[in-house]
Amino acid sequence: MSISALSPIQPSEPEPVVPDTDPTSPADWSPDSWRSRPTLQQPTYPDPDRLAAVVADMRSLPPLVTSWEIEKLKDQLAEAAAGRRFLLQGGDCAERFDECSSEAIANRLKILLQMSLVLAHGGRRRVIRVGRFAGQYAKPRSSDLETRDGTTLPVYRGDNVNAPEFDAAARTPDPDRLLLGHSRSALTLNFIRSLIDGGFADLHHPEYWNLGFVDHSPHAAEYQRMVESIGESLRFMESLAGTRVGDLSRVDFFTSHEALLLESEQALTRTVPRRRGWWNLGTHLPWIGLRTADPGGGHVEYMRGIRNPVAVKVGAGMDPATVVELAEILDPHREPGRLSLIHRFGRDQVEEGLPRLLQAVAATGRRPLWICDPMHGNTRTVVPDAGVLAGTPVKTRSFDDILFELERSFEIHAAVGTHLGGVHFELTGEDVTECTGGARGLSDADLGHAYRSHVDPRLNYEQALELAMRIARRMRDEPASG
Ligand code: PEP
Ligand code: CO
Repeated sequence: MSISALSPIQPSEPEPVVPDTDPTSPADWSPDSWRSRPTLQQPTYPDPDRLAAVVADMRSLPPLVTSWEIEKLKDQLAEAAAGRRFLLQGGDCAERFDECSSEAIANRLKILLQMSLVLAHGGRRRVIRVGRFAGQYAKPRSSDLETRDGTTLPVYRGDNVNAPEFDAAARTPDPDRLLLGHSRSALTLNFIRSLIDGGFADLHHPEYWNLGFVDHSPHAAEYQRMVESIGESLRFMESLAGTRVGDLSRVDFFTSHEALLLESEQALTRTVPRRRGWWNLGTHLPWIGLRTADPGGGHVEYMRGIRNPVAVKVGAGMDPATVVELAEILDPHREPGRLSLIHRFGRDQVEEGLPRLLQAVAATGRRPLWICDPMHGNTRTVVPDAGVLAGTPVKTRSFDDILFELERSFEIHAAVGTHLGGVHFELTGEDVTECTGGARGLSDADLGHAYRSHVDPRLNYEQALELAMRIARRMRDEPASG
């Protein structure tokens, strides 16, 4: 038996020839250099020894993603920045441990697949699908504490930190949750990979993606017509070529989450054979949230050194000069696909804030991938006067505000001469009632029917599909470049 036959089976990592000039992690950076900077939004653990043990354990566990998947995404993001692809990023505001079930995961995948089909068909552009999942378990909060009826407890920071129930035990930060979060992320990703490998995302079978309530949706007919027309084109191409279009039976799916808890992000930061630098192998696309985007803070310090593509939320209250500074720190080599800027101004601020921001960044000659998050600037608290939640303050968002910010963003980019290459939504494949409006005209009084989020309100299945249709219509009128 030859030596090569005896050598262990290797994962199918391609063996890239890495030029010495390839960017690598900076020499003045290390996976823990963030510790020397002020780092916001970290929980205070009552048992630091247990935290250290958990982190040591996480460091030895296999990662969730690979460097070659990350590089592939980076290449695709570069194409989106150049106008040749479009990014669809979506998922829950916060994943929940108890919603790590086959149905919830499949439903989330279904709505993202349906939206991407609509965008690709109407927008005539290849779509990059990125889920806010398999790790979206930690939330930044505006206050450390919450008081109810005279009792004050630590605020809920996501399932990776504590539990939402209002009692002292549930709200105490528990490091073991990080391990549970890691395994839930692995379970989620494993199921998604199996579904996709098994043909779930096959364009020949879009009926697999139908959700139970689709038939009653006001958009069912338009969606069905689209699916039929894609089916006809496929059959036509295949009869012409005499073979099945195999490329369409598999799609790429990538993951993202807010890189908030730097203890666990560091534990998943690794080197890999035959590539330079350090990689966050806990997700393909980590992002920095608005509250932790201080150029001098720990989060920016951590993210500047990893080789993944990175994204930052930017918006009202942030000086355009600060965004330029962030771009310099996070992407000093102007590497294609490295930096995405996710703008989230809100309906009332987008017209004032976005043009100045786009102009400031464009003036530096940079061409980041611009993504619009029309959700986070449009959150408001209402007190419904009827329905199950009558008299209770509820966080919601209106479909019209979301659509307004999105449409104005397309127009402002076109006017400034930059390009909007993606969208970022909080959505679910479930039939919830958390955002108002949409074709069914949900009102404040309807919010109580199925309000499940413990954090931000999500678009339901129908509202998400409707938005995809609106964006696709707009993209159809805007020529793709390249
Ligand atoms: C989020 O995306 O859930 C979030 C907290 O966003 P932002 O940082 O933009 O407020
Ligand atoms: Co949110």
